[in-house]
Amino acid sequence: MLKSAAVVGAYGAGLAVMPRLNQARAAPEPIEINAFTDAVMLDGKQQTRGVMRYAFSGQASGDPQPPVLRARRGEPFAARLLNRLDEPTTLHWHGIRLPNSQDGVPFVTQPYVYPGDTYDYAFAPPDAGTFWYHPHCNTLTQMGQGLAGVLVVEDARDPTFDGEVVLNLRDFRLGGDGQFIEQFKPRDAAKTGTFGTLRTANWQREPRYDVPAGGLVRLRILAADVTRLYNLRLSGAQAEIIAFDGHPVPQRMALDMAVVAPGQRLDLAVRVADAEGMEMVLEDIRPSTPKVVARLRAVGSSLKRSLGDLGPLAENAGVEADLSSATEIPLLLSATAENAARDSICGSIGYSFWAINKIPYPGDTPDPTAPIAELKLGKTYLLNLENVTPHAHPIHLHGMNFKAIASNKRAVQPLVSDTYLVLPDEKVQLALVADNPGDWVFHCHVIEHQKTGMTGYFRVS
Ligand code: C2O
Ligand code: CU
Repeated sequence: MLKSAAVVGAYGAGLAVMPRLNQARAAPEPIEINAFTDAVMLDGKQQTRGVMRYAFSGQASGDPQPPVLRARRGEPFAARLLNRLDEPTTLHWHGIRLPNSQDGVPFVTQPYVYPGDTYDYAFAPPDAGTFWYHPHCNTLTQMGQGLAGVLVVEDARDPTFDGEVVLNLRDFRLGGDGQFIEQFKPRDAAKTGTFGTLRTANWQREPRYDVPAGGLVRLRILAADVTRLYNLRLSGAQAEIIAFDGHPVPQRMALDMAVVAPGQRLDLAVRVADAEGMEMVLEDIRPSTPKVVARLRAVGSSLKRSLGDLGPLAENAGVEADLSSATEIPLLLSATAENAARDSICGSIGYSFWAINKIPYPGDTPDPTAPIAELKLGKTYLLNLENVTPHAHPIHLHGMNFKAIASNKRAVQPLVSDTYLVLPDEKVQLALVADNPGDWVFHCHVIEHQKTGMTGYFRVS
């Protein structure tokens, strides 16, 4: 079955959803993002009730795909969140270096957005690439039941592809009757996190997208699941990793297998097979039996393109760390036995299993813990992370990027990123220039870990 909505040509990209961005550069009309609850057909079975969706004003209702937002590097972007859920929410723009007031974290950067209320966000994204947006309130439920979308920041200097496919990967946690079951089990939250039961890409099980035969297609992949790590490979076509977490990689490499953890993004340049009808399969090989994530099918006569034709992506700002003057910050990721969870609307889930520097975060409350560290604006820091747990933690920093410098477990590439997967027993050094003032949260993106203590924040001033 053809799923054309996620496939766009090089020139038609996103025009249907963001027509207004091209006009009124100074103060664009905000795009309205509705957050609401719906009944949606998942896996071709009976409707699942209580799916939480984002939809833009004007978007056809009943479209079961998570919507893709588009913005342009350096140009003003504005969005108005309309909360039509029956609980508070916020919007966080994951990976975007924006002013602290736009970051979407309740109590830390803004109040809750109550049901029926709106909240305006505005920023000019400084980096181009694949980013995303999601709630930062009652996140396990809200993201678990569907709220998460890709934000593509375009740059006209990027090379032209013959097509683009955006994949928003996530599981839904459903019972035999196709309805949501409890989002987590405490004993799993204290380990890897609780897994969903239905794997999806763009809310479809194993969707297939038509792409031009012999063409070059940009595949933008987001791991939006609250728990699952993916080991992705693509069979039947040549593919190269061109960007990670939104940022062009220093050196393109052939995709062999790539680990993508919750919160992370992977951009691939795929050279589609020449023969019409040929299928290419994106698979997750982490489980013992590989699972199909999505398929691409070659259509038309071969465009005969070559990966070598592809020019570089427009560069993003790097991390200009002055290592000679860097201050080191030890960051111990551990389990905890102390229960610090406090009640709050936006959520703690009632337990503490994890801590940063032995302090379990109490949840989103008006009175959280002190910052992990206070950073001086403009100074370089080395975040010395040490994971003493037997589980992997995709650690995410808001508002700034870091660069991996060294690890005791692997040869690290100097990737600029906002989310680093810290392996069990790994010690890793991340260089950070504290170039954005404000309080920036830092947390594991396995949402059960985030919500049971593995959260903190840095204060930059
Ligand atoms: Cu994508 Cu605070 O997270
Ligand atoms: Cu974690």
